[in-house]
Amino acid sequence: MKKDFINIGIIGVGNIGSAHAASIYGGKIEGMKLASLCDTSAKRRAAIQTLYPDIPMFEDADALLASGLADAVIIATPHYFHPIIAKKAFAAGLHVLTEKPVGVTCKDAKDMMEAAKQSGKLFAIMFNQRTNKLFRAAKEIVSSGALGELKRCVWLITNWYRKQCYYDSGGWRATWNGEGGGVLLNQAPHNLDILQWLCGMPSSVYARCDEGKYHHIEVEDDATIMMRYPNGMTAVFITSTGEFPGTNRLEISGTKGKLVIENGKLTHTSLAIDERDFRLMEESAVNEISITEISDEKYNGHINILCNFARAILNGEPLVAPGYDGIFELTISNAAYLSSWIGEEISLPMDDEAFATALEIKKKRSETKAKSVRESIQFAYKDRWNTNW
Ligand SMILES: NC(=O)c1ccc[n+]([C@@H]2O[C@H](COP(=O)([O-])OP(=O)(O)OC[C@H]3O[C@@H](n4cnc5c(N)ncnc54)[C@H](O)[C@@H]3O)[C@@H](O)[C@H]2O)c1
Repeated sequence: MKKDFINIGIIGVGNIGSAHAASIYGGKIEGMKLASLCDTSAKRRAAIQTLYPDIPMFEDADALLASGLADAVIIATPHYFHPIIAKKAFAAGLHVLTEKPVGVTCKDAKDMMEAAKQSGKLFAIMFNQRTNKLFRAAKEIVSSGALGELKRCVWLITNWYRKQCYYDSGGWRATWNGEGGGVLLNQAPHNLDILQWLCGMPSSVYARCDEGKYHHIEVEDDATIMMRYPNGMTAVFITSTGEFPGTNRLEISGTKGKLVIENGKLTHTSLAIDERDFRLMEESAVNEISITEISDEKYNGHINILCNFARAILNGEPLVAPGYDGIFELTISNAAYLSSWIGEEISLPMDDEAFATALEIKKKRSETKAKSVRESIQFAYKDRWNTNW
């Protein structure tokens, strides 16, 4: 008999896991029922159990996966555990929605994707910003060919500002051993994903990542990436958690016009004549331009992705963000780190093994972070996880 809801387990009930639990338990996700929870921290388990005393709570993922209580799991642990737990979940015959990033290394992420394929189960990733109205409009404009052949993309996304207390709020944060990266691996995956979703993958990556530039952390909190594309297009991506006030401005230009997204507005400037033809016309020729503007609207990207995941399992709706897509932005960030560490441009596809080895060296040199002094549980849904203009 066709089910009209899925039982969901959440593994990792910290900041974002608890926000997902609240949405599901609160009945905001049609077709999804909160069936089990898991967290390795006794403190978190105790706090969460007071909120959801009727939901079975496990202290390790294996026990939840073996319980038979869940049809699908949401993985909301620190990044290194995403592929490890996902592989076990697929082996147990469950659908998986993983938090971003899909993993820390492409090597581990590809193993996880192989396991997903073998299982035949649904595999999704929480790229909530894909449900933002302006990025969806941009996707339509670019895919329709309205910009012509793409020439350039510049994304200045420096409004991921974080205070030191954010980095001090969890022992795993901003360490090579616990997190595996900084702004490129934690905050910017959303934007790197949108960038590749709109423009495709570059053929090479050159980057400078500054570690501990604005905070007492060992990973990067400021990064500049330059990318080249097979058609000659170039892209520059600049991100930081140390600039305040920051900026979020995306510009994509092509032979038939450009689009700019900034301050909650998309501006599409369209050329009557493709610039590649226009350049050959006589001096007096005029190229008419027309401008269309689209305004953003309030949205909750996490709820949108959760609802889509439920409908995908129950009714076969296409996933907004298939888990397999997680490899693209991760490839860019892996390549950016490697480029910065060795001072060279990295051609794609890159050598996954070379990156994994280089990361191991960083991990060996890593200083173990003193146990967090400010570890606190924040259950409130944070709007900053969605798009900030
Ligand atoms: N999509 C988004 O907008 C968004 C927002 C925030 C965080 N995230 C992602 O979610 C993940 C978690 O981030 P967070 O800010 O919630 O971190 P957090 O530290 O607040 O929560 C992680 C929780 O996982 C638990 N945990 C650790 N290892 C575990 C394991 N092996 N099994 C079960 N539980 C385990 C920890 O005890 C903790 O409670 C990260 O990968 C992060 O990138 C995504």
